[in-house]
Amino acid sequence: MKILVLNGPNLNMLGTRKREIYGTETLEEINEWLKKKFPETELEFFQSNHEGAIIDKLQTTDADGAVLNAGAYTHYSIAIRDAIEGRESLPCVEVHLSDISKREDFRKVSFLTEVCKATFAGFGKESYVKGIEFLLERQNG
Ligand code: DQA
Repeated sequence: MKILVLNGPNLNMLGTRKREIYGTETLEEINEWLKKKFPETELEFFQSNHEGAIIDKLQTTDADGAVLNAGAYTHYSIAIRDAIEGRESLPCVEVHLSDISKREDFRKVSFLTEVCKATFAGFGKESYVKGIEFLLERQNG
């Protein structure tokens, strides 16, 4: 099974960005850690600060599932929601490092939850692990 780990805007700044909320590790470090956690699984990594690039990736990836941290787009992108909804063959799991339900009101709204198969938020980098495990279990179960 091939899984796309897709990160949206500002997640390339992990390690320096609001470390008290998002932790001290860089995105590269998290991705390397994920590779070691799932040596049997093919992982594809993609990060973009651009909505259209995220949509292009969702439309064209040959992965069997996606773990998506859409960053701030989570809270207002109907276009990313439509892209997920439009690719029924690509099950998506929404993940967030922080617990968006316990932060500012504007972060409590997710436009993506309804079109994703599951959501994991507030577990730091473990949120990605939970997302990948969910997809693997879904495939095998
Ligand atoms: C985030 C939460 C979003 O509200 C924020 O805009 C991010 C990161 C998280 O992983 O906790 O960029 O998705």
